[in-house]
Amino acid sequence: MQEVRRSLPIFPYREDLLAAIHEHQILVIEGETGSGKTTQIPQYLLEDVTRNSCMKIGCTQPRRVAAMSVAARVAEEMSVKLGNEVGYSIRFEDCTSERTVLKYMTDGMLLREFLTEPDLASYSVIIIDEAHERTLHTDILFGLIKDIARFRPDLKVLVASATLDTERFSCFFDDAPVFRIPGRRFPVDIFYTKAPEADYLEACVVSVLQIHVTQSPGDILVFLTGQEEIEACCELLQERCRRLGSKIAELLVLPIYANLPSDMQAKIFNPTPPGARKVVVATNIAETSLTIDGIIYVIDPGFCKQKSYNARTGMESLIVTPCSRASANQRAGRAGRVAAGKCFRLYTAWAFKHEMEETTVPEIQRTNLGNVVLLLKSLGINDLIHFDFMDPPPHETLVLALEQLYALGALNHLGELTKLGRRMAELPVDPMLSKMILASEQYKCSEEVLTIAAMLSVNNSIFYRPKDKVVHADNARMNFVVPGGDHLVLLNVYTQSGHSTQWCYENFIQFRSMRRARDVRDQLEGLMDRIEVEVVSSQEDSVPIRKVTGYFYHTARLSKGGYKTVKHQQTVYVHPNSSLFEEQPRWLIYHELVFTTKEFMRQVIEIESSWLLEVAPHYYKSKELEDSSSKKMPRKQGKTKEELG
Ligand code: CDP
Ligand code: MG
Repeated sequence: MQEVRRSLPIFPYREDLLAAIHEHQILVIEGETGSGKTTQIPQYLLEDVTRNSCMKIGCTQPRRVAAMSVAARVAEEMSVKLGNEVGYSIRFEDCTSERTVLKYMTDGMLLREFLTEPDLASYSVIIIDEAHERTLHTDILFGLIKDIARFRPDLKVLVASATLDTERFSCFFDDAPVFRIPGRRFPVDIFYTKAPEADYLEACVVSVLQIHVTQSPGDILVFLTGQEEIEACCELLQERCRRLGSKIAELLVLPIYANLPSDMQAKIFNPTPPGARKVVVATNIAETSLTIDGIIYVIDPGFCKQKSYNARTGMESLIVTPCSRASANQRAGRAGRVAAGKCFRLYTAWAFKHEMEETTVPEIQRTNLGNVVLLLKSLGINDLIHFDFMDPPPHETLVLALEQLYALGALNHLGELTKLGRRMAELPVDPMLSKMILASEQYKCSEEVLTIAAMLSVNNSIFYRPKDKVVHADNARMNFVVPGGDHLVLLNVYTQSGHSTQWCYENFIQFRSMRRARDVRDQLEGLMDRIEVEVVSSQEDSVPIRKVTGYFYHTARLSKGGYKTVKHQQTVYVHPNSSLFEEQPRWLIYHELVFTTKEFMRQVIEIESSWLLEVAPHYYKSKELEDSSSKKMPRKQGKTKEELG
């Protein structure tokens, strides 16, 4: 293993790098993916005898998977037990101890640490890694860390990035020097399709098999947009291999995406047995965050799943869009790490040039900012318009976030943090969820609301619906339906489960999600003391629960052909998976709005409009809540194909 460490591209630069870190407070470090930035730099710092050994080194990662797998790798290289000297911290999971000196964590977790330690006094070095990903949390960290570095001259800040955008980082950090680690990169031949592919999933499968049959040894990496696609692709590949039988060499098909259980994730790093070929089917997690050795062939359909946000209506959508040219080039680069490679782009050269954006728009410009605004306000940063953003968010998005926090009572009419807001910020969940948890105190149903909050945060992965057992799965799901709405269904599932694998299996419930929900619930319950909420049960009365499930901010009323949101008069629909899809009650509260084929409300609960005046008198006027129709709207029969899509 020490041999491998010495063979990494970064190794020859060890001394120069340490010297540069000594000399400069802020350093931008640029190097190809796989050169050793994430795993080696912290170790070099630890091995440095001049280091102040009482202080920690923190290294942020945009993705949970990367934080965990990199920490495990480094613990192994250092021959220590994960969680002791080397640990990781991700939301709802802390694998560190008193002894931890090197802490890998998600960028969101470091952001939360500012709440308890505003100057990060226990750290001597902060590495903002994967800076090029430009996640919302990383972008906010840039501003905060630049600020504290001014009055903490002893703090070293390293901004590590793949070979993208480094000039911009340098510029933002007052012309910090850029340390470049020359890559050891082999040439990659790029092939385009002659005409656009109608079905890129099928095209991927065909390309994998063609490579497998016609090309010399070397593993394959395929980029798809998400879990469903990846699973479908893996299934197709396995099935075709089975049919071809002994006519072809063995093909190991391995998926990798953020929600995959960690033992399955670890498999992609296992060396390929001789005579076989490995194909890793991945999301863009494999673009820069993870390095898989032995990849010679890359298949790139040119898409990714991207979040976008409509600041007028507050609707978030996750849509498959063409990836950027910068992404495409990163993907291609994955083929040239160990030897000359080939990248098969399943789009035309024309599309690459004319249909793809140069770079990906930073997340801060296409997401809801409620959470981050609450956090910044809690840190005493009041003037958000003049916060030092590398790229500022759209003005309307900031305004909507402020408006939402005001409606929830977290800010007063001057935009200042209230006592409630301060307590809300203590909980590591969305402001609407934290509001709901805090409100549960008054309505004496915190026991139930904690469960609902936990179930909502493992979001949409509770029910298991395998393609070949759709009818059984849907029947099982029907058995959990209780009157009132989806939140109560989730509560019911949690209460009944008893957390047994067998029970989950029989009821088409994902055991993993349930286990995670329980962890989340335990963590939230542990925080109740701090925010002074007593954990009590409503004793099976659903009315208090429905009153606080408390997204009074997200109210919709039945209207012709669908629903209209009360505040923005936007037409929305109940999601076909909802327990209230058939019933269509007059007033609803929804957990989230997502656009897939239509504007769907996901996780809805039935309420009475009069409750809104009770729970949010500052936000609703009785006039807004008058019922225009006295009868329920007639509902068309059955689900349309579009709704099921
Ligand atoms: O951060 P950067 O992309 O520059 O590289 P790294 O993540 O430090 O990876 C350096 C090397 O460590 C890779 O080439 C992998 O061989 C190895 N590695 C691994 O085997 N398992 C991991 N979970 C992470 C890295
Ligand atoms: Mg890295």
